[in-house]
Amino acid sequence: MKGIFITFEGPDGSGKTTQIRLLREHCLAEGYDVVMTREPGGTPISEAIRALLLDPAHKEMDGVTEALLYAAARAQHVAEKIRPALEKGCVVLCDRFMDSSIAYQGYARGLGDDVRVINEFAVQGTQPDITFLMDLPAAAGKARVAAARDLDRLEQEDLTFHNAVYEGYMQLKEIYRSRFVTVDASRSIEEIAEEIRRRFDDYVAGRSFSQ
Ligand code: TMP
Repeated sequence: MKGIFITFEGPDGSGKTTQIRLLREHCLAEGYDVVMTREPGGTPISEAIRALLLDPAHKEMDGVTEALLYAAARAQHVAEKIRPALEKGCVVLCDRFMDSSIAYQGYARGLGDDVRVINEFAVQGTQPDITFLMDLPAAAGKARVAAARDLDRLEQEDLTFHNAVYEGYMQLKEIYRSRFVTVDASRSIEEIAEEIRRRFDDYVAGRSFSQ
């Protein structure tokens, strides 16, 4: 792949969306072609699945159904948008990717390693080069989200669920040390953005980095 695939992960309310926009500006200023996208979503089919997944009315949704729908949305997203953009040499910035499924469905819903397996199938070998993990305790993220917007079906889960998501991320960053960059998300927007820019520049300079 000629491009660079960068994902942003973290608990709800950890500031991923703000930071992804700021990194996009930096990449554009550096002359890269940038594709900014999100999960679940990013293509018409995947956005339709997103609406199904996040509708607070769908309280009866089974955990396995949920995991398969996230994986299905991702399969379409990778095939239609992410892989073609990487083949063209773009920087692809994605708000959440398969680590979200492992943290939310694998750890917090308790579905375990099957979630990784179905997602390996969904992405067909397309994996992030860098994953920025926005590190913010679940309670702080939940408070930020509650103050800012109506809560979707996943955001409405209780603090026990969101603490399990956080623990899932803590394990993922140890398992995938070579691509995870953990960012202290309790700092100011500009401090965080500065660290992310520096990490990106280091990666591009050496096409590798270490924590
Ligand atoms: P967003 O609020 O970051 O757009 O994500 C929507 C919700 O979906 C969020 O609560 C996290 C959740 N989610 C999963 O549970 N599994 C996944 O694979 C993804 C991508 C998101």
